[in-house]
Amino acid sequence: MTDALVCQDLTKRFDHHLAVDSISLTIARGEAYGLLGPNGAGKTTTISMLSGLLRPDAGSVHVAGHALAQDPRAAKARIGYVPQEIALYPELTGRENLRYFGRLYGLARRALQYRIAEVLDLVGLTGRADDKVGDYSGGMQRRINIGAALLHEPTLLILDEPTVGVDPQSRNAILEGVDELVAGGMSLLYTSHYMEEVERVCQRVGIIDKGRLVAEGTKRELVSRLGTSDRVELVLDGDLTAAADKLRAVAGVTEAVPTGTSSLRLLAEGSRHLLPTFIGAVEGVATITGVEITEPDLEAAFLHLTGSTLRD
Ligand SMILES: Nc1ncnc2c1ncn2[C@@H]1O[C@H](COP(=O)(O)OP(=O)(O)O)[C@@H](O)[C@H]1O
Ligand SMILES: [Mg+2]
Repeated sequence: MTDALVCQDLTKRFDHHLAVDSISLTIARGEAYGLLGPNGAGKTTTISMLSGLLRPDAGSVHVAGHALAQDPRAAKARIGYVPQEIALYPELTGRENLRYFGRLYGLARRALQYRIAEVLDLVGLTGRADDKVGDYSGGMQRRINIGAALLHEPTLLILDEPTVGVDPQSRNAILEGVDELVAGGMSLLYTSHYMEEVERVCQRVGIIDKGRLVAEGTKRELVSRLGTSDRVELVLDGDLTAAADKLRAVAGVTEAVPTGTSSLRLLAEGSRHLLPTFIGAVEGVATITGVEITEPDLEAAFLHLTGSTLRD
């Protein structure tokens, strides 16, 4: 079977700003792929080009074997796109909203009625289907929005930061719904700047930073690039920049980055044995008052690959 998505050398420039810089990626059928990167990395711009909403300056997109540029109707019919902003009619009920979107997709009345019931069940809103969407919580609105993108049974579902601005309970409901879709065989492109969500939902992760896909792989593959480095958080009093320079010079330390007014983050091999060395190294410029060591994880991989943390 053809892959759910293949895009090659996708590029977009806004004036002189290269928002998306030659991104290529492939998503297999049934695969959940996470595009992880900070705000402004180029996630929404990439997705807009994949969905046919924004014309790329260069590059190609195939959805389930259909070329977006040559056969946009066929390619778009196989994508369910859920934008970051809610696009619903608040005066209509959940069911009425779905009916409206289903007609837009050209679904026949009879089939649509049946499909709406399925989709309501899928997003866990059967019990609230006949309430006005304006009375829904933010999380419920997101779920009905996801439902609208599923009506035409797309091959690939694209979710753009689906949990931003929702309460923890709704967030959990959204993630559970997405897990269920993936378990049912849906191909997924999930963008987020939340590491834990991507780790939970996706089998494969692409790290995007400043418009470039800087690394790609399973969580295990990305983390293994770090070797056996630990992530070390240090709390210090004193001159952080000078302390970072001194720590970077310690053998075994590969990164030392200030993360706040009194904290530094290091990547270091065998950090437990190096603690006395750290304390000695910063002597005269700073005092270490706290230490926390984390084994290699995706956060550490991200820091290693991009030189910054996700929540900068
Ligand atoms: N329509 C636009 N015009 C000009 N610049 C844009 C436009 N859309 C996005 N950008 C810029 O492109 C970069 C990538 O933005 P975006 O794709 O929205 O990032 P993300 O979704 O990862 O937060 C940002 O620097 C943003 O300011
Ligand atoms: Mg975005």
